Amino acid sequence: MTAPLLSVENLDMVFGGNKRDAGVRAVDDVSFDVMRGETFGIVGESGSGKTTLGRCIMRIIDPTAGKVTYRPDDSAPVTLTDLDKAELRKQWQSIRMIFQDPQSSLNPRLPVIELIGQALRKSEGLTGKALAERVAQLLQQVGLRPEFLHRYPGAFSGGQRQRIGIARALATGPKLVIADEAVSALDVSIQAQTLNLLQDLQDEFDLTYIFIAHDLAVVEHICDRVAVMYRGRIVELADRDTLFRTPAHPYTRELLEAVPVPDPSRRRDRKKTVPVPTGVQSAGCAFAPRCALATEICRNQTPPKRNVGGAEVLCHHVT
Ligand SMILES: Nc1ncnc2c1ncn2[C@@H]1O[C@H](COP(=O)(O)OP(=O)(O)OP(=O)(O)O)[C@@H](O)[C@H]1O
Ligand code: SF4
Ligand SMILES: [Mg+2]
Repeated sequence: MTAPLLSVENLDMVFGGNKRDAGVRAVDDVSFDVMRGETFGIVGESGSGKTTLGRCIMRIIDPTAGKVTYRPDDSAPVTLTDLDKAELRKQWQSIRMIFQDPQSSLNPRLPVIELIGQALRKSEGLTGKALAERVAQLLQQVGLRPEFLHRYPGAFSGGQRQRIGIARALATGPKLVIADEAVSALDVSIQAQTLNLLQDLQDEFDLTYIFIAHDLAVVEHICDRVAVMYRGRIVELADRDTLFRTPAHPYTRELLEAVPVPDPSRRRDRKKTVPVPTGVQSAGCAFAPRCALATEICRNQTPPKRNVGGAEVLCHHVT
């Protein structure tokens, strides 16, 4: 079996915290592998720690504890969590991020050629005509016209701006792309077009995606495997079909029940989701206050990771 492209081991991220205040444990003992060429989904409601996890993997923020190993090729694996800033910057050419809001992630004062070309200038020393040609080619690869080179972000629609964000991520020839809510801000029809584009680019350039989203329909469409996060922990990890057909963890079941049902006759079966409680993670299962299956052990002991029907599930009781 080939080695995973990325391995995340026991990652923790605690914000704040001092002697009197335990802070916010936004990522709590998270471990998973991402295989070459797959789309690995991370879902969970707002505040569950998805963005923080993505930022810790890239080391946009430094995790409090844990290890991230990256194997871009057959040479020795790179421990991202051990690198100094200069070494990390080199790795950022092959691990790129796409953000939710292209409006705020694209500097409105820079034309497209600069937005996409900056990274190429640094990594490959391209300038002038050669740079313009490369950026024009990238624009075509994401379905935009090459003559858009000298326009500014304000001249584009939301979907077009996200394509510019994708072209910028592709510019340095990445192997791993972390897409954080990449289509969440777009209209449904534009979402579908953007997802199709991401899939085409994945095939063309052998990309591996970590795809962060709160929308389960989007995740079901694009992901091969899915990790469900709840208050910083991965509570269930399974391949897409297993997760959507036979969700095991009580939180995953609740999430799936909350998906809008197109058939009005089934609507009364829907449950309302309860907002995520905030604050510090305590001992035991964080889902216990919301869980119909909770017992004493759930409140006192952190649940173990168990294999349930082909899924990894963090729960005391589910079988
Ligand atoms: N820089 C920060 N300082 C302090 N707390 C933070 C910081 N960034 C995130 N948090 C907290 O960490 C937790 C996880 O936040 P995060 O943004 O990772 O969640 P998310 O799953 O991406 O949510 P959303 O779906 O809304 O994007 C939240 O409680 C949030 O308030
Ligand atoms: S560990 Fe207990 S409280 Fe947590 S999800 Fe499982 S049954 Fe529910
Ligand atoms: Mg987020």
